Amino acid sequence: MNNKENIRTLSVDIGGSGVKAIVLDITGNPLTQRSRLETPQPPKPEVVINAIKTLASTQGEFDRVSVGFPGVVRNGVTETAVNLDPGWIGFDLATVLSNRLSKPVRVINDADMQGLGAIQGLGVELVITLGTGFGSALFVDGKLVPNLEMGHHPFRKGETYEEQLGRAALERVGDNKWNRRLLKAIATLQRLFNYDSLYIGGGEATRIKSQLPTNVKIIPNITGLLGGIALWRD
Ligand code: BGC
Repeated sequence: MNNKENIRTLSVDIGGSGVKAIVLDITGNPLTQRSRLETPQPPKPEVVINAIKTLASTQGEFDRVSVGFPGVVRNGVTETAVNLDPGWIGFDLATVLSNRLSKPVRVINDADMQGLGAIQGLGVELVITLGTGFGSALFVDGKLVPNLEMGHHPFRKGETYEEQLGRAALERVGDNKWNRRLLKAIATLQRLFNYDSLYIGGGEATRIKSQLPTNVKIIPNITGLLGGIALWRD
């Protein structure tokens, strides 16, 4: 491995519609242009890992790998994958990918990784991501409460946050109604968590047209990759 200051981290974000990768320096700044591939269909482990291998080959040298995965992750093993494929349940992604890339690999939930790239580290900070699914991450003074799965929690009208605000809902009900729903969700979450700050990321955050409360901030989608550096801070 390089001198510590020169360590390069390949950061990977597995999403329901795209798989993205970038190389970060030791401080978390990007060293390469982000590359992206459509998520292979059906998104079974083997083909998604092949896509990561292809993306890695476009990114030059790296020493270690961080992965954000759209489901519950414990000790590198993926436990749920609602928007991917049941083949991920109980899959040891960290070990399999590490063998394929011959590098150490750490894996966490995608919204948790996005949050690590966004938060200030003070007070109660909540992160939600609006993409294929609805991701969520909660931090207290910078410490992560891992695997918060708010997306599958009931929200309104017998539907979950993900059913009301995921991409399928956005396409079905259109921007205006989706924006109104989002404001209702923000109000509900403020009452529930009494957060100091709420960050909203994910590919569909660009569709937000509403005026947001002052403690709510939209974050760029690249944050999902930038959070990858935090997985090695221990
Ligand atoms: C998954 C979460 C994930 C979110 C965003 C949800 O369906 O259960 O783990 O963070 O989608 O990808």
